[in-house]
Amino acid sequence: MCGIMGYVGHRNVVSMLVDGLRRLEYRGYDSAGIAYFEEGEIEVKRSVGKLSSLEEILPPLPPDSPSGIGHTRWATHGKPSEENAHPHRSGSLVLVHNGIIENYISLKKGLLEEGHEFVSDTDTEVVVHLIDSIYQRGGSLETAVKNALVQMHGSYAICVLSEKDPERMIAVRSGCPLVIGLGKDECFVASDIPAFLSHTREVVYLEDGEIALLSAKGLEVLDFKGARLSKESQKISWNPVMAEKGGYRHFLQKEIHEQPRAIVDTIRGRVAQEEGEVILGAAEINEAVVKRCKRVVLVGCGTSWHAALVGKFLLEEIAGLPVEVDIASEFRYRDPHLSSEDLVIGISQSGETADTLAAIREAKSKNTPTLSICNVVGSSISRETDTVFYTHAGPEISVASTKAFTTQLTALTLLAIHLGRRRAVLSKEKAQEMIHHLILLPKQIEEILRHEARIEDIAKRYFRYRDFLYLARGLLYPVALEGALKLKEISYIHAEGYPAGEMKHGPIALIDENMPVVILATKDKVYGKVISNVMEVKARGGMIISFAEEGDTDLASISDEIFFIPKVSPSLSPILMTIPLQMLAYHISVTRGTDVDQPRNLAKSVTVE
Ligand code: G6P
Repeated sequence: MCGIMGYVGHRNVVSMLVDGLRRLEYRGYDSAGIAYFEEGEIEVKRSVGKLSSLEEILPPLPPDSPSGIGHTRWATHGKPSEENAHPHRSGSLVLVHNGIIENYISLKKGLLEEGHEFVSDTDTEVVVHLIDSIYQRGGSLETAVKNALVQMHGSYAICVLSEKDPERMIAVRSGCPLVIGLGKDECFVASDIPAFLSHTREVVYLEDGEIALLSAKGLEVLDFKGARLSKESQKISWNPVMAEKGGYRHFLQKEIHEQPRAIVDTIRGRVAQEEGEVILGAAEINEAVVKRCKRVVLVGCGTSWHAALVGKFLLEEIAGLPVEVDIASEFRYRDPHLSSEDLVIGISQSGETADTLAAIREAKSKNTPTLSICNVVGSSISRETDTVFYTHAGPEISVASTKAFTTQLTALTLLAIHLGRRRAVLSKEKAQEMIHHLILLPKQIEEILRHEARIEDIAKRYFRYRDFLYLARGLLYPVALEGALKLKEISYIHAEGYPAGEMKHGPIALIDENMPVVILATKDKVYGKVISNVMEVKARGGMIISFAEEGDTDLASISDEIFFIPKVSPSLSPILMTIPLQMLAYHISVTRGTDVDQPRNLAKSVTVE
């Protein structure tokens, strides 16, 4: 976890770092710090809490500094405290780090014997001392960094600055994301693009095992042995305004409202309606893989795992393939049976989730073809899978995932249609019809978003309750899980998602007049059974908040609250049903006054196990 940022160039370094870190706070925000030059010496400022606490201790008139580094932390080794906050210092060096150094205890032992003194509990402080210990023996910083790397085990992205060379900084990537931004007479390095997006769109993705030497004159990239590498820069299409709040009160609300656009971008260029075809282009799966494929295994974490659960229904029904779904963190530990007849699909917004990446590596180690559904272009998962299907949702800043989820569902639908056609199990007419419904989806979402005031109204009546139950069946059951997850993540209300049919095997014992029960139902083959569940809840005094298709007067007549979504084909109902649940969680949280965009204890991108 954690966000790191470095800048070398002609602009005011302190404000560049603060500005960049603000956009990286989604990666962790329990403490923050920066290092910059003041009269030739490195000044370090650190503070517990969010970036705003750090800002309070920064000089009102920041000095001219040729370079600087910064960090926003999500604690792994050592509690959030000023001593444990980055940057860490040793001799003339300062360093920021994202990741975990697994052998830091043995490295620390050696350094203590050499006489190094430590002031924090972090693994990071060991790294800066290790580099310094080598640096002090003579030679360049670059050589010291290289020699330290061979001793370090774990995953990391680091950025180092030396008092002896203020015009240059060194960044290294091994297992954690790092991207370089190239401007005119300036260079940026950060854990993620939004950190410098308002200054440049020219980026170079560092790969694992690469060292970047940054100066205002430009960038040099070396491998861990010191050989010079030639790297191409890419122009990214994200526009800086896309990474801002755009007039909304919170990023979460903005991202909920961006969903019609995001879904258009996921579909764009991928459908040929008349032919009833989905064209995957760069995400095309090798013919031999499709021919051989007997089973799909979907893996993901958190919200992405919920997308995988919906994906199972879609791929089984539309593409006629047996599908298994695994929580990525469980996958490799059960030694899964995999072969070249499987296709493992990793779903990840960030493309950096450690467990999902490890699941992909597990599949690759067994020669199983892999595909990823990712939002972040150039992310680790997207680069490590054989094929990548980008969702193009744009930057998702709020910690709780919204548009990433609905675009993942859209991508899974497209993939299911594509595979259904290639495997000749889906007729052209059926595919045409499905594509037609997909194209209508953004407009239907806009329609739902227009009724946000109605959701706000419901939120104001129910925000004080301490527990919520979300019930649904079939394809909507994962949406019940996702609705409950959204509520607990951002409002801290305890919420459970359950398959409605399981209610009588346990959750029914919880129902009383203090339990709002959220029901998701469309008029499918299990509709009657869901109505029976509603009656069972009512008989025990529970309150019913229903989300149903327009015109559903039966459910309306037995619900305390009802919100209608437009009529939609069953396979797309999870996407539409998700929108009001996101809004409900959002408005309950705003009413309760929680930190919607950065809920406590969470981080957007979990790059540690
Ligand atoms: C964290 C985030 C979730 C996200 C999950 C998986 O827990 O808070 O919102 O769903 O990671 O992230 P990924 O980037 O792999 O989709």
